[in-house]
Amino acid sequence: MPGPLPCRAAKALHWLPSCRQEAAALETILVDEEVTLRPFDVRDAAAFFELIDSNREHLAQWIPAFGFVQTLEDERVALRGMQTQLREGDIIGGAIEYLGHLVGAASISGLRSEGQPAALGYWIIEPVQGRGIATRVCRALIDEAFSERGAKQVEISAPTQNARSRAVADRLGFTLDGVRPQAFRCGGRMHDLAVYSLIAADWTSPAG
Ligand SMILES: CC(C)(COP(=O)(O)OP(=O)(O)OC[C@H]1O[C@@H](n2cnc3c(N)ncnc32)[C@H](O)[C@@H]1OP(=O)(O)O)[C@@H](O)C(=O)NCCC(=O)NCCS
Repeated sequence: MPGPLPCRAAKALHWLPSCRQEAAALETILVDEEVTLRPFDVRDAAAFFELIDSNREHLAQWIPAFGFVQTLEDERVALRGMQTQLREGDIIGGAIEYLGHLVGAASISGLRSEGQPAALGYWIIEPVQGRGIATRVCRALIDEAFSERGAKQVEISAPTQNARSRAVADRLGFTLDGVRPQAFRCGGRMHDLAVYSLIAADWTSPAG
């Protein structure tokens, strides 16, 4: 396992030169006393692969990308890609740890896509559902995206039948923009996709 990275609480810095942004992307976010978000790191590949492999059914029912993670090497490649995107400032996010245990991941991507909403994605394993972990992590990530990365809008897309994911969007104050019929293939069939958004002006930082 990698050694501890420098930590900082989720707080508004408003503007950072690009080199400091890169450094910030590689720091752990202390979400609260129970939950941390540690930047994607290829050294976590084995731990992630084990978690994904033992929770495959739960995860792959809604996130088709897990179907492409069949070996440890697949996970290494995926994490290397995400590490690069972290350094380039295109995404923020990483491994969710709950009471010191790896339980999932969350990220906001598309931060350098001018004029496009950034996209929020998240997953946790089934046994730790129902504790607000995903909501708490996403709140910290959104705050970072709006307060420090200059994001103007964040989007969540969830199959209409994914009630737990839609509840996260609702809890975070996202607005349902609409439903795209049969727009998402997962689990061997097409799903209607609920698209939610949140704009920076409507965001209230948890830091006050
Ligand atoms: C989507 C997913 C992350 C939601 O997980 P979740 O546990 O329902 O969401 P949270 O971790 O935010 O927990 C919310 C629950 O904790 C409760 N809770 C407890 N403390 C809380 C707190 N401090 N803040 C918010 N909610 C809290 C909420 O009331 C809610 O309870 P409920 O399950 O009885 O409604 C999870 O189901 C998952 O990973 N699914 C598979 C992958 C997936 O679908 N990803 C999204 C693709 S679009």
